[in-house]
Amino acid sequence: MTVDGITRVAVLGAGNMGHGIAEVAALAGYQVTMRDVEQGLVDEGYGNVEWSLQKLAEKERIDESPETVLTRLDTTVDLAEAVTGADLVVEAAPERMDLKREIFAEVEAHTDEGTILASNTSSLSITGIAEAVSDPSRVVGLHFFNPPVKMDLVEVVHGEKTAGSVAEKGAEFVESLGKTPIHVRKDVQGFVVNSILGPFGGEPAWMVSEGEAAIREADAAMVHERGYPMGPFELADLTGIDVGHHVRTEGGIPVPPIAEEKVEAGDLGRKTGRGYYDYEDGDGADYE
Ligand code: 3HC
Repeated sequence: MTVDGITRVAVLGAGNMGHGIAEVAALAGYQVTMRDVEQGLVDEGYGNVEWSLQKLAEKERIDESPETVLTRLDTTVDLAEAVTGADLVVEAAPERMDLKREIFAEVEAHTDEGTILASNTSSLSITGIAEAVSDPSRVVGLHFFNPPVKMDLVEVVHGEKTAGSVAEKGAEFVESLGKTPIHVRKDVQGFVVNSILGPFGGEPAWMVSEGEAAIREADAAMVHERGYPMGPFELADLTGIDVGHHVRTEGGIPVPPIAEEKVEAGDLGRKTGRGYYDYEDGDGADYE
């Protein structure tokens, strides 16, 4: 069931998070427009949605056919076209404050006062992003986890000026996707989940950088001893080593040398075919 007052959703970004958020919104019955800055990025994101819907259909996890769901998903490279008439905008652009502010200012110019402006930022301040618009009460964080189609939790992050009604509507939207919202009422860096995940990923990366542990063993330890679905290195490959790198750099947190090396080499994880593990020529994250 969709939420009263939300029919059209614009998702800005067709990358790992953007295409997943667009997919779950279309699955829930919303009319979605997914936008990225280049046609190639839009096409790649759309292809990923098609792949994912096909997988879900094969496993009988969805009631409608992928084709029917896709009738609710449009794409564009034009930001104004994407957000005009939208009731909710979810920004899922790269993790740079200047870029996000630029996007929010442009979005404000093309939306009505009642449109909710959400950011999927992993760790940037919602209060800081909201400074780009004249009415910061409309801005809220909706922080999804990767892969959005599979992960249940979404953080609803309150900026200092976010209206209570906007955060509530954001939480209702999350519930309408069949997911569980948690309110993060203090706009702290990393919110709740990434504040906890930071040391989970950082500590083993420092240990490996300093020759105190090996990647496969560290992952195996967390999976077998702690019962996590993935070890920290496999998880970094899934979310993108560059994403964690951005989060640390923006937050002034030192980057472990092993992560720095991977980013410099362009080995960012699954999306580039290689990260801490090799997904093209090697056997992937085979550590169990
Ligand atoms: N859509 C549809 N199907 C998908 C899919 C997608 N997006 N992604 C994977 N699948 C498929 C796989 O291809 C596989 O299909 P197959 O059986 O035909 O090969 C199937 O789903 C099942 O996958 P798995 O057996 O590998 O694994 P599970 O279903 O048991 O779980 C997982 C997969 C949910 C990713 C699980 O490993 C997990 O929970 N990992 C941890 C993820 C996590 O912690 N994410 C949060 C990261 S932090 C973050 O996002 C914050 C941000 O700010 C950086």
